[in-house]
Amino acid sequence: MKDVCAVIMAAGKGTRMKSSKPKVLHAVLGKPMISLVLDNVEALGVGQTLLVVGHGSEEVVAAVGKRAEIVIQEPQMGTGHALQVAEKHVRDDMRRVLVLSGDQPLITLQNLHDLLAGAQGTDMSVLTAVLPWANDLGRIERDDRGHVTRIVESREATPQQKAIREVNLGTYCFHRDALRADLPNIGMQNAQKEVYITDLFVLAHRDGRAVVPVDAVDPYTSIGVNSRKELAQVTQVLRDRINDGWMQEGVTIVDPSTTMIHSDVRIGRDTTILPFTLLEGKTVIGDDCVVGPSSRLVDSRLGHGVTVQNSVLLEASVGDRTSVGPFAFLRPGADVGANCKIGDFVEIKKSRIDDHSKVPHLAYVGDAHLGSYVNIGAGTITCNYDGKNKHHTEIEDGVHIGANTNLVAPVRVGHGSTTGAGAVVTRDVPPDSLVVGVPARVVGRVEKTLQHNGSEH
Ligand code: UD1
Ligand code: CA
Repeated sequence: MKDVCAVIMAAGKGTRMKSSKPKVLHAVLGKPMISLVLDNVEALGVGQTLLVVGHGSEEVVAAVGKRAEIVIQEPQMGTGHALQVAEKHVRDDMRRVLVLSGDQPLITLQNLHDLLAGAQGTDMSVLTAVLPWANDLGRIERDDRGHVTRIVESREATPQQKAIREVNLGTYCFHRDALRADLPNIGMQNAQKEVYITDLFVLAHRDGRAVVPVDAVDPYTSIGVNSRKELAQVTQVLRDRINDGWMQEGVTIVDPSTTMIHSDVRIGRDTTILPFTLLEGKTVIGDDCVVGPSSRLVDSRLGHGVTVQNSVLLEASVGDRTSVGPFAFLRPGADVGANCKIGDFVEIKKSRIDDHSKVPHLAYVGDAHLGSYVNIGAGTITCNYDGKNKHHTEIEDGVHIGANTNLVAPVRVGHGSTTGAGAVVTRDVPPDSLVVGVPARVVGRVEKTLQHNGSEH
């Protein structure tokens, strides 16, 4: 692979997207299309990678510029022109040039391996697919030996050529010498007045060079993104591939058609994903969890045996056997331990909650640390923001916070204490105290029976 140079063509304007953003930066399951293509090229381990950009190049370079050498094509005069421009930057020690299109994100690593293997010993090769449906892709004409004679653009095809079901996926492998010989000789003799990369195949056939097409087998691989509709189609195909992969690994996905799992997510065995659930970014889920319905987890981490229903988790972490939701919102820095309960209409931000603690309903916990065996009553708020700064609330082990308590931070509630319903706690509470009122004052010692009370209310 070290003598292969990958050229990714991504300079086109993508007019049909009707977007202010370059086409290849549109995301498929959370990743820009161009990143999906680059992932494959990197996994292949090629010796050099060139990325051809033009319109909107600053944005593309900012997004993925570190992953490839940038070649600017300005103006853009077609795919053949893109390769003409890029070829000048291919290092001398590269024997083969693998060309990919930035708008074909469904091409797999296997496709590239197959193409390179099929291209061995030939001058040029092209990845094709046989499709059951008609579309706008270039049609492949072959001779009796199966060699490619030409590739005809759909818009320039005769009715007979249009009937051909084998299409060009826009992924090619060229021997360096063949490319050097033929690349200067392709021109703009076509309807679009563009330089077509596909004209290289006409020249090769004329000169008797061997051109062998490689069938991509899976016809869905062929979907290129030129419009928002195709973006949605590509998303669906990738979604199904990822879901199929997890089901093979022992994950139950009750309704794959409403389950979106990003490619970097990890899921343990015997976990069940219920309908309308999105697992995004670098989310990691343990074994035996039940996630969903209607939940969204972004860059979050669940231990084993966790339940999450109808909830949103952003950069949150949840320990083993804890249950979350329905209708909980765990914001960045929510770090919940094992055997906890985070119930309905609870918001948690930048807070550590130790094992065996409960926030069962209607509460806001922000910038706080809750020890273990803490119980937070309904309607409780950590008043963490004084209008200028955020302050910390410390709630020690075994504390029982009564319903509707306001904890005015910075404040500490000592271990084993209890607050009465509606208390406004403005000062630190010593351990084992019972506090009530507005603002709350110490009125006595807590009854021992109230400590470590694990019951719900
Ligand atoms: C091209 C092929 C077609 C094939 C299809 C597969 C040609 C003439 N036709 O058509 O046979 O079935 O791809 O997807 O090549 N690009 C540049 N610079 C340019 C023009 C395009 O970098 O000057 C890039 C685009 O950003 C895109 C790729 O090349 O990533 C393909 O260009 P596009 O205009 O989408 O070609 P198609 O009409 O789809
Ligand atoms: Ca295209």
